[in-house]
Amino acid sequence: MLFMPWSEQLEVGIAEIDQQHRWLVDTTNTLHRLLSSQEAYADQLGDILEQLMDYTMNHFIVEEELFQRLGYPESAAHKAQHNLFCERVMGLLTRHDMGETVGLDALTLLKDWLTNHIIKVDKKYVEHFRAQGIAI
Ligand code: FEO
Repeated sequence: MLFMPWSEQLEVGIAEIDQQHRWLVDTTNTLHRLLSSQEAYADQLGDILEQLMDYTMNHFIVEEELFQRLGYPESAAHKAQHNLFCERVMGLLTRHDMGETVGLDALTLLKDWLTNHIIKVDKKYVEHFRAQGIAI
């Protein structure tokens, strides 16, 4: 059974964004599988953290450009959460590169992000986007 199965709760209804969120869910499940195995995973964890850095840059730009284009009033608070997440991923990558074991911390961060940011904070922009006429 998957650690974090994709569900309607996670869907915002914008294809590009849902596709990027699905990548994050898949990555979370991959990390959980690695941590559950008895094998060494340090190299794969480094790859995952680097991919996460790319993800954050690309995904957050997509959302934040829509905020600007559609005049989203909660943009500043939302962006602050994005910035904090980037800092946390960067912190994990730095600790990993220094030889620390950060797999569990990374999994905890991702699980918290999926359940508290995507399901609650991302979902809040959907009504505004719809009201501005974006096709959802
Ligand atoms: Fe989908 Fe606000 O991150």
